[in-house]
Amino acid sequence: MNKLNVIFLIVAIFVISCGESKKKTSKKEVVSTKILMNDMEKGAQLYRSKCMNCHMTKGGGIEKVFPPLANSDYLKKNTEDAMKMVKFGSNKPIKVNGIKYNGLMPASGLTDKELVVVFNYILNSWGNDYGQVSLEQVEAVKR
Ligand code: HEC
Repeated sequence: MNKLNVIFLIVAIFVISCGESKKKTSKKEVVSTKILMNDMEKGAQLYRSKCMNCHMTKGGGIEKVFPPLANSDYLKKNTEDAMKMVKFGSNKPIKVNGIKYNGLMPASGLTDKELVVVFNYILNSWGNDYGQVSLEQVEAVKR
């Protein structure tokens, strides 16, 4: 092999491997957004059937009776505690966006997997951008 051939070979390998890795990452991105979209859809369904009666269509709640989830400082700052409230129910007095609530939220009756899905939905809906929770986190929430 002469020098030119060797250089050509190196360039060819470089180009091929770059192309490959690009293909791989874009494929991965597509898959993960798809899962997210699916989960958001599932979360919306769970929300409609299990939460919307009290927290209302757009997570706005009813002032002084049912706290809002949309733009809720409580949900943002106390995500773990909020998970506990939804998992096991709650009747302790809390303050959301400066307003007191002391109602009763019954335990959701959802499985831990469903809780992850509905939680990621409320954390990322109606303008909320409060991150995500994992199954491990939800499983770790104890009374
Ligand atoms: C029967 C009405 C009712 C239902 C159904 C209900 N909640 Fe609640 N929720 C409440 C009340 C009342 C509180 C305040 C509880 C307290 O004062 O301890 C609350 C509090 C919360 C909080 C913490 C406070 C806040 O606004 O950030 C979150 C988060 C929450 N609920 C999410 C949910 C989710 C998710 C579901 C569905 C799986 C759900 N709730 C179903 C009535 C309800």
